[in-house]
Amino acid sequence: MDARPIGVFDSGLGGLTAVHSLWKILPEENLIYFGDTARVPYGGRSKETILKYARQDVRFLRSFDLKAILIACGTVTTTSLDTLQAENDLPIVGVVEPTCRRALLVTKSKKVGIIATLASIRSGAYEATLRRLDPDVEVIGKPCPLFVPLVENGRIQRGDVVIETVAREYLEPLKATGIDTLILGCTHYPLLTEIIADVMGPDVTLVSAGEESAFELKRMLKAEGLRADENRQGETEFYVSDRPEDFERIASVFLRENMRHTARRIDIDQY
Ligand code: DGL
Repeated sequence: MDARPIGVFDSGLGGLTAVHSLWKILPEENLIYFGDTARVPYGGRSKETILKYARQDVRFLRSFDLKAILIACGTVTTTSLDTLQAENDLPIVGVVEPTCRRALLVTKSKKVGIIATLASIRSGAYEATLRRLDPDVEVIGKPCPLFVPLVENGRIQRGDVVIETVAREYLEPLKATGIDTLILGCTHYPLLTEIIADVMGPDVTLVSAGEESAFELKRMLKAEGLRADENRQGETEFYVSDRPEDFERIASVFLRENMRHTARRIDIDQY
């Protein structure tokens, strides 16, 4: 039994979709969540800048005595996972591989679409992982750079003309390719599930990054003997690098329940 917390981080609020899954499947675990709200979005930045930010995020999280880290961010996973794993002596789980495995289980036509941030698509990490796991799969990737800022501003409702117009512009060409599975490769995108499903139609299955990585984390903790006592109730602490009030206001939407916690602000430049 190991009651030490798990560190979870994202550029902002998107990683909360993974926290939502972790609360369901690992309720006994303590979590420390960090959202780098002062510097979100990461997705349009260079690999070097994202790695620099990710190293600081990990250094902050490691100021706690953690047993593992979940990178609840597609952008950090696609650009920095290998480096962070090599530099840190604790298990680090990312979102790419678990999500690709799930997509390959559900696709029948072996034609898989992937939407993510510009940095994630540019890295080619999702495509490379899908092809490594199944060389016959056809992969069509599409960056959706306006999705993260719209989600961070709460523009996620059906009937919101801005998000619906942007979604149609990004997704209609993807639908026309005949994919039967679409990876939501950024942890912000599950908030847009209804909007995306409306454009893609019922014949395309959506696979979301945060959820699958939570299951992968559970498997890893079990295999390494790192699970907490299942009879206990875990606690979650939230930290952000900008105004906690803004984070708390929108966090409930991502967590799909009222945010009962307060978030604390830290100075990420000190790490
Ligand atoms: N949630 C992130 C991801 O999964 C972040 C996006 C961003 O900061 O641009 O890619």
